[in-house]
Amino acid sequence: MARRTHECVHEAENAQLHYAPAHFYETQPGKGYIDDVDQYSQMYRESIDNPELFFDKMAKEFLHWDTPYKAVKSGSLADGDVAWFLNGELNASYNCVDRHAFANSNKPAIIYEADDEVENRIITFGQLLRKVSKVASLLKSWGVKKGDVVTIYLPMIPEVIITMLAVVRIGAIHSVIFSGFSASSLRERIIDSKSKVIITCDEAKRGGKTIHTKDIVNESLQGINSVTYVLVYERTHNKTIAMSPTRDYWWTEEVNKQPNYCPPVPCNAEDPLFLLYTSGSTGSPKGIVHTTAGYLLGAAITTRYVFDIHPDDILFTAGDVGWITGHTYALYGPLSLGTATIIFESTPAYPDYGRYWRIIERYKATHFYVAPTALRLIKKIGEAEISKYDISSLRVLGSVGEPISPELWKWYHEKIGNKNCVVCDTMWQTESGSHLLAPLSGVTPTKPGSATVPFFGIDACLIDPVSGHILEGNDVVGVLAVKCSWPSMARSVWNNHDRYIETYLKPYPGYYFTGDAAGRDHDGYYWIRGRVDDVVNVSGHRLSTTEIETCLVNDKYVSAAAVVGIPDDLTGQSVVAFVSLQNDNEIDGPVSFHRELILQVRKEIGPFAAPKAVIIINDLPKTRSGKIMRRVLRKIASNEAEQLGDLSTLANPEIVSEIMEAVKTQF
Ligand code: PRX
Repeated sequence: MARRTHECVHEAENAQLHYAPAHFYETQPGKGYIDDVDQYSQMYRESIDNPELFFDKMAKEFLHWDTPYKAVKSGSLADGDVAWFLNGELNASYNCVDRHAFANSNKPAIIYEADDEVENRIITFGQLLRKVSKVASLLKSWGVKKGDVVTIYLPMIPEVIITMLAVVRIGAIHSVIFSGFSASSLRERIIDSKSKVIITCDEAKRGGKTIHTKDIVNESLQGINSVTYVLVYERTHNKTIAMSPTRDYWWTEEVNKQPNYCPPVPCNAEDPLFLLYTSGSTGSPKGIVHTTAGYLLGAAITTRYVFDIHPDDILFTAGDVGWITGHTYALYGPLSLGTATIIFESTPAYPDYGRYWRIIERYKATHFYVAPTALRLIKKIGEAEISKYDISSLRVLGSVGEPISPELWKWYHEKIGNKNCVVCDTMWQTESGSHLLAPLSGVTPTKPGSATVPFFGIDACLIDPVSGHILEGNDVVGVLAVKCSWPSMARSVWNNHDRYIETYLKPYPGYYFTGDAAGRDHDGYYWIRGRVDDVVNVSGHRLSTTEIETCLVNDKYVSAAAVVGIPDDLTGQSVVAFVSLQNDNEIDGPVSFHRELILQVRKEIGPFAAPKAVIIINDLPKTRSGKIMRRVLRKIASNEAEQLGDLSTLANPEIVSEIMEAVKTQF
């Protein structure tokens, strides 16, 4: 993988450089923040050569501090003790709400596009301050204090943002669990974080369907006595749902009686702001820890410079706040800058494929940020709807979460952007907190399919995975790493700092390891090639193959399972599971058994993790030391059996033809 390669050169040669179209500059509400690519290069150099000076300026310009910091940064990747803005104090809720409410209380903060359009609402910064204060006061009265973790299990409604800001207002730590997660996934995360308070709703609405959110919470809490309070927002006003008389409280009754103002608690720059669970190569999800100042600064500066956000812009981040994209670019980025954010509860297909474009037309959104998987769906099924709407307010089209192919990039540029917008492919991760690689809109020339160049402070490098040496120069392919800390990098894994070190800092000592492979072309542009660990990316959702395997082997008939990700036209990658059985005579019939296993994954993890296919085989391909050779399974399932590579270490080579047969009958 580490060799100088022609593949990478190829991609670059084919890639045409795109400059921001005239329309982008004509509709820019003010002067751009950065003049040109030379200024970017000069600022980038300064951010790497003198991060103390660079980020000192940024931190003073972008954040409100209650107590000035004593030093900009300390610690090292080698020691895993990175810290930024030492001894400084600030409050994230104050930075995202109060200062903007004081400046212009009538300015829209949250634009809520409900599942059913008749329920749409706009919340101004002034209203947001009161709403956040009330929830914060309630939490305080329940004994929630600095450092406590509050779990939030809510759909994309304004209350999820209000609650997150209320939690951090009193110095507590939020742990938002994506509302598509099952009861058992929720339970695992509540237990790991030791949350005593859960905030949820009666039911959720999505795509016209009702989801029984509180029932899921009830199931997840069975036998957990440590949870003392559950606050239930009345999303559908279904008063028949099961409520515990001693533990569960209705939002309206409790929140409305609280005072309109709750003072924000000054927090140390390095106090945890939130946990966000993500999948890794091992089975159990890890609670990624982000800290107050560094994270907030990363969110603010990337939102401004990458997206070229101006104060009256309207940002429509279509991702769910249950993932990092929603945390950073639906909440902390735009609100820290005082910019309105659209919170979208529904799906791009409900009630029809015109939904996104109606939202953009209605609110005159200037920025649209979405995962390629949604674009693929629209391109395949809903393209005819686009031209029915006036979406000419758009200036920037963002892409996130998975690679965007050059074809899809061009389609996005032409069909959605009408060749008038900048397409901004942003590569980053839950752990990075904010963009790692991304063009600065209107500044960096782009290439379809490349997330372009590193953001300020990201000393990106490629490492030869065999030798562990840095690959100098261009036209190289290796694993993507970062040489120094940056303000918004995750500081730890909740209650497991060793796992943080092992996963990110040990693989290549002295560097932060992203888990991705990438190429760097002759212009220094990066091309992401996907994960090198056991993580698959389905519709922009990050899944651990090990977690799915663990769930499958819980079935009494399954003796072993191996899960692989294969390319998928719609979802980017899809999950294929291979299982061998204890005794296949006992199962009811292969069809119902497949269905049962798929249901089990839906139930244990969530519907988005369900395998596209379950293939029953007699044995899994294993090395002599007993390690499953997933590569063999992946190649066969991807229809690339001619590229199986070296099979000399395979202990059971006879299994290969059987697997090929089984796959043939399945697809
Ligand atoms: O493999 C990369 C891929 O998504 C991973 C991070 O997933 P998650 O933590 O869930 O965060 C997703 C949203 C930021 C990365 O390691 N990825 C993310 N963005 C891109 C990408 N792959 C290619 N191109 C991107 N723009």
